[in-house]
Amino acid sequence: MTASTRTTEPAHLATLRVDAVRGLTAAPKTLPPKWLYDESGSNLFEQITRLPEYFQTRIERALLYKVGADIAAITGARSLVELGAGGSSKSRAILDALAATVTTYVPVDVSRSALAQAAPSLAAAYPGVSIRPQVADFTAPLNLEEVGGPRLTMFLGGTLGNLLPAERAEFFASFAAQLAPHDHLLLGVHLVTDPQVIRPAYDDAAGITARFNFGILRRLNRELGADFDVAAFEHVVHWDTANEWIEMRLRSRHTQTVTLRDPGLTIHFAAGEDLRTEVSAKFRPEKLARELRAAGLELSEFWTDRDRLIGLALIAPAPLSPPAA
Ligand code: AVJ
Repeated sequence: MTASTRTTEPAHLATLRVDAVRGLTAAPKTLPPKWLYDESGSNLFEQITRLPEYFQTRIERALLYKVGADIAAITGARSLVELGAGGSSKSRAILDALAATVTTYVPVDVSRSALAQAAPSLAAAYPGVSIRPQVADFTAPLNLEEVGGPRLTMFLGGTLGNLLPAERAEFFASFAAQLAPHDHLLLGVHLVTDPQVIRPAYDDAAGITARFNFGILRRLNRELGADFDVAAFEHVVHWDTANEWIEMRLRSRHTQTVTLRDPGLTIHFAAGEDLRTEVSAKFRPEKLARELRAAGLELSEFWTDRDRLIGLALIAPAPLSPPAA
């Protein structure tokens, strides 16, 4: 491939290539879950949020409407930034609650198509609010120079759970570093509950989550010239008791060899070997508060539903600690 072709290709391809090589040559094999969200994957995820088994989105949305006025009163936010906004379906609860103060809304997502689909109806519904989408992954630095404070950053939907513990610490620390004194972070997390309740949410009867999971192989076939035979893999959901997280995996039904034309890589799967495509961690409020503290952040409010399935955490910069005696 010539240099000029490389410069005109979509910006994400270089990262996808690096992630694919690193993850598929690791033991055990893994792929970062953000690659699940191409156009088809984002649409499938929207379908997941409406499944009877996937309770998380409904409960979080109801909770946002319930506590929206409190959030508005505490934050008085002029700008709303939403990490992993997707189709912005839950943002309206907070945009409505912030009607008296909000002037700018910045939805951030890896899916350009999801942002583009949502933008016109947001602009129509909130004519007084400047809508400024940014295509980025939630760990990347954002361009927020002209986005005034007080700022409320929302990171909803339990997406924090996609980060491994070390990545999470890193996320909190870099977030803390750019948080002004009157800014807040609103974090929506999935809480630890009975695995019997959590598991079906990732293995629905209609098979939508399985299609979502297989989609990552289709993407590698399309974008990296891979030759994955999707039918040769099984959608597997694994609850990790020690880490209190759920994993999506793709299990090879038999021994097989897969080739990626670009970057030029051949990999082998043993029969029954798993490729991990997602970690979705579940949280306990006390542990979350400890992790935040360690990053210089403070859990100032915590709301939950009556079944304690979903948590909404309002986070502020930690007050300066008293000087050591
Ligand atoms: C968007 C990461 C929160 O982990 O529940 C849904 C993604 N994966 N079904 C989740 C997902 C399988 C979802 N998050």
